[in-house]
Amino acid sequence: MEEVRIAMVGAGFAADFHTLAFKEVSGADARVVAVTSRRRERADAFAAKHGIPSVYDSLEQLLDNENVHMVDLCVPTNLHLPMAMTAARAGRHVIVEKPLTGYCGEPGQDNEELIGETVPRQQMLKRVMADCQEMAEVLDESAVKLMYAENWVYAPAVQKARRLIESSGGTVLRIAAEESHSGSHASYATHWRMAGGGALLRTGSHAIGGVLYIKQAEGLARNGKPIRPRHVMAETAFLTRIESFVQEDPKYLKTGLVDCEDWGAALITFEDGSVAEVCASDVVLGGVYNQMQVFMSTGRIRCNMNPNDSCMVYGPSEAALGNEYLAEKISTRAGWNFASPDEHWASGYPQELQDFVSCVTEDREPLSGWLLARDVTAVIYAAYVSAEEGRRVQVPA
Ligand SMILES: NC(=O)c1ccc[n+]([C@@H]2O[C@H](COP(=O)([O-])OP(=O)(O)OC[C@H]3O[C@@H](n4cnc5c(N)ncnc54)[C@H](O)[C@@H]3O)[C@@H](O)[C@H]2O)c1
Repeated sequence: MEEVRIAMVGAGFAADFHTLAFKEVSGADARVVAVTSRRRERADAFAAKHGIPSVYDSLEQLLDNENVHMVDLCVPTNLHLPMAMTAARAGRHVIVEKPLTGYCGEPGQDNEELIGETVPRQQMLKRVMADCQEMAEVLDESAVKLMYAENWVYAPAVQKARRLIESSGGTVLRIAAEESHSGSHASYATHWRMAGGGALLRTGSHAIGGVLYIKQAEGLARNGKPIRPRHVMAETAFLTRIESFVQEDPKYLKTGLVDCEDWGAALITFEDGSVAEVCASDVVLGGVYNQMQVFMSTGRIRCNMNPNDSCMVYGPSEAALGNEYLAEKISTRAGWNFASPDEHWASGYPQELQDFVSCVTEDREPLSGWLLARDVTAVIYAAYVSAEEGRRVQVPA
């Protein structure tokens, strides 16, 4: 079996579920052989937990290891593109977490200011599109693959939707999608200079990625050409700043975002005239809410990624069901809950990393690759311009 040796960059939440998913890959000898993280002790602990033989102090040091074929960037948004460029220039395939990139300040500037409150969104859009162009050139020159870790693409419900759309030959007229929860656990998410935006970018990138993927797949099946986004209209809000909420005690939602919105909604119009309504927020209680509905000329599909009712459980008290995991971000184990029997599978993580490894061994493009990564970024920042300026905005092609 062909060997694929992977280096993990970051040792947090995403790095953990990616590393677990690599262990399930079949058809290739895929192994995480190295890790680096900002704090050495965290990388050491991560290596010990997952049996990873080598720990490095930086990406640059790690890239000296000739055995590494592919790096997996599970780091905050501000590091995605700089690290992807470094790894690609060093001839390594790159997996990059969502979103591909974000506006995190101008290069070489002191980014201590609250850029989410000061920088015009037009400036952000221009910068991220220039960054994407530079990345495209690096990819052309280096001939490595960029794999975009948008798990919605690989979620079994979304792949079922794709197959149904293809077999029906119908037109996807409208899609409605949302990814929301009760607030991010990640410390970088509080500041725009690291996160690149708020809920519309952080969780909205999943919902936007999902709807863009469906339209790409529809176009490819019908005439070999993806259907791409053309315009966007959007609004954002800071709901946890509403005075009555600020006064409440206790709070069940996570607070602490500094200059990033906690709610965003976007209306996307595609080049064939079809539409998508996307929502993302940090104000949804009751567990992670990942849903997509596809309204076709030939039918209607509802993808309940999370929650789904394949296993519903009732606990008469918080402690009654012991320690068995139920589902992500539920705030209580008492009462009825949607307990996902295999949340990683329903989210598409093992399928995603299987595809990425297979792309390397079979020398083909991933289902979730450059075009999706680039278009999601373009839609997000066009949406930020729309929300700021109160008008419909063209998505850069
Ligand atoms: N697909 C998904 O469902 C999903 C879920 C969560 C997060 N993510 C994405 O994964 C990425 C990481 O998010 P997270 O939730 O794991 O955050 P996290 O805070 O849990 O982990 C981030 C990791 O990056 C490390 N890091 C920071 N600076 C570094 C540097 N200079 N060099 C090396 N490592 C560095 C940190 O030490 C930490 O280990 C983000 O891009 C996020 O959007 C995706």
